[in-house]
Amino acid sequence: MKEGLHGGQAEILPGRIYCMDCMELMPLIPDGDVSMILSDPPYGISYRNNFTNARHRALAGDGGIDYERFAHESYRILKDNSHAYFFTRFDTYPYHYGCLKQAGFAIKNCMVVEKGIVGGIGDLRGSYASNAEWIIFCQKGRRLFNHTTLLQNRKKEGSRFHAGREPGRKYKTRFNACWFGSEYPKATYHSAWQKQNGIFHPTVKNVEFLSWLVQISSQPGEVIFDGFMGSGSTAVAAVQNGRKYLGAEIDREYFEMAEKRIREVERTVGREKEETQSRFL
Ligand SMILES: C[S@@+](CC[C@H](N)C(=O)[O-])C[C@H]1O[C@@H](n2cnc3c(N)ncnc32)[C@H](O)[C@@H]1O
Repeated sequence: MKEGLHGGQAEILPGRIYCMDCMELMPLIPDGDVSMILSDPPYGISYRNNFTNARHRALAGDGGIDYERFAHESYRILKDNSHAYFFTRFDTYPYHYGCLKQAGFAIKNCMVVEKGIVGGIGDLRGSYASNAEWIIFCQKGRRLFNHTTLLQNRKKEGSRFHAGREPGRKYKTRFNACWFGSEYPKATYHSAWQKQNGIFHPTVKNVEFLSWLVQISSQPGEVIFDGFMGSGSTAVAAVQNGRKYLGAEIDREYFEMAEKRIREVERTVGREKEETQSRFL
């Protein structure tokens, strides 16, 4: 990998978030070097939540980023036969869709995932509150979903739906695009979570939800890229699931928040590993 990063870094290494503009980081990543993209770019919302007293300052890139270039770079750095997820919103969806398609992605679906709290932006007496995240699901080539233990089938393992069909499995191998209800994790946390956990970022995502996507779309040891790490949720989901992470966060305060969070999770995961190993000695 190439020279030229802050701090005289010789290589861009997975297992790091770079405190820089992701549009400067991405050109330094070789073609096909990442195995999954899970990214939550700013799309111009000047965030204000009317239901909490917390007032967040405007996010960097809130007026929008060069999405066309971001889409092309995302396609280039993603390995063949891999999955990419891009958070979006109903009004930016058509533009994001067009850019991703033009970059070469096969756009397979738009996931709609229930939020942990109903969004309070704008005139809620004259419009509908936003209670879902939209995520554009893309493939570069074709990759099948992993077999996971996330959702159990209702029918008993081994039962046959039709004569001649394979016996049913205990866990689902197919997933719906719409994740609502108690079976699924929410895309965001409820409002008290930030206070309880000391993570003050206006658009923090639920790590359990990201973990599901990580488990469905990548293998242990693979590199997951997020160019807009914010409080580091994608990296935390990667570490918790034995994957590597790579990405950028332009805002130093959020970058430091992400670093702190990741170090804590790495310590916990390390401790758990040691405990498991000592049990088998
Ligand atoms: C929507 S938030 C991501 C939140 C994240 N998913 C989380 O759970 O915390 C987008 C983040 O991208 C950062 N950002 C904006 N423009 C950027 C750029 N050009 N390069 C890197 N980061 C950028 C913002 O500071 C913000 O923290």
